[in-house]
Amino acid sequence: MILVFGSINVDLVARVPSVPRPGETVLSRGYETLFGGKGANQAVAAARVSQPNTVMIAACIGDDAFGRSARDNLARNGVATGLIRVGTEPTGCAFITVDELGENAITVASGANATLTADSIQSFSVDAHTIAVFQMEVPLSGALSVARSVRAAGGHNIWNFAPAPSTFPATDLSDLLELADIFVVNEHEALSAAAILGHGATDLQEAGKFLSRTGCICVVTAGARGAFAFHSDGRCETVEAALIRPIDTTGAGDTFVGILASGLDEGMSFTKALERACHGASLACLAPGAQASMPSRQQLGLEALG
Ligand code: RIB
Ligand code: NA
Repeated sequence: MILVFGSINVDLVARVPSVPRPGETVLSRGYETLFGGKGANQAVAAARVSQPNTVMIAACIGDDAFGRSARDNLARNGVATGLIRVGTEPTGCAFITVDELGENAITVASGANATLTADSIQSFSVDAHTIAVFQMEVPLSGALSVARSVRAAGGHNIWNFAPAPSTFPATDLSDLLELADIFVVNEHEALSAAAILGHGATDLQEAGKFLSRTGCICVVTAGARGAFAFHSDGRCETVEAALIRPIDTTGAGDTFVGILASGLDEGMSFTKALERACHGASLACLAPGAQASMPSRQQLGLEALG
């Protein structure tokens, strides 16, 4: 069973000629209202390629239309929603601008996500088959406490250090790395994480190697250059990315994490799960929005579900 402990947002997306710099205003023809949030995206990415009833999300939404439609969307995508709590803050909202090259800039108003605690999983029994998935859009204390229960039960933790916080205590990162079996970052997040721990890594190789020394597998996603997995014994696996022309990279990292979790949940080898995640993340860049472009099992080249 895959348990995603994370955020649910509604994304307001405007396409712009170029992402505005501080003090600048750019005009966009309009905007779209799409489902997002790193937690929700990762859950949907996993559910699209998994057997039915294998993905669950623990999250918090507001008592509002955004929250209700986001929860319905998760259910429609095959994500179990029983651990979604309705809080007193509004549903999280992300303001996203996407430029002509498919690159984006995002501001997240956390709202209800900021009130998620480990209490949300009280009715869930964590066991050795649990694969828990975490990101950085909900309070760390709850996430660490869930990760501790998962570790104690013999399950596995996948931690996506995204978005990389601008300030973060080294002790918290050490705790997090200690609990993570797999730590997933992009190049920027890898360098930030290494810097937080006082290591002056200047490229993803150095950062990845350093971060894996804490005992986890450190996976660094590198866009068009594919993905690198640094193992604590010093081995590094490389997966090449498919050659594509990106339309919108929003959610590509989430797709990677969700598909990686699903492969491991199915008992695939780590290498196979990594290749599948990389392929899925490329496909996710080919259409606008985070979730609309996430591949199905068939699109990933896997057999259809019976
Ligand atoms: O990773 C993409 C996601 O980040 C968006 O869906 C947005 O909600 C932000 O949380
Ligand atoms: Na996309």
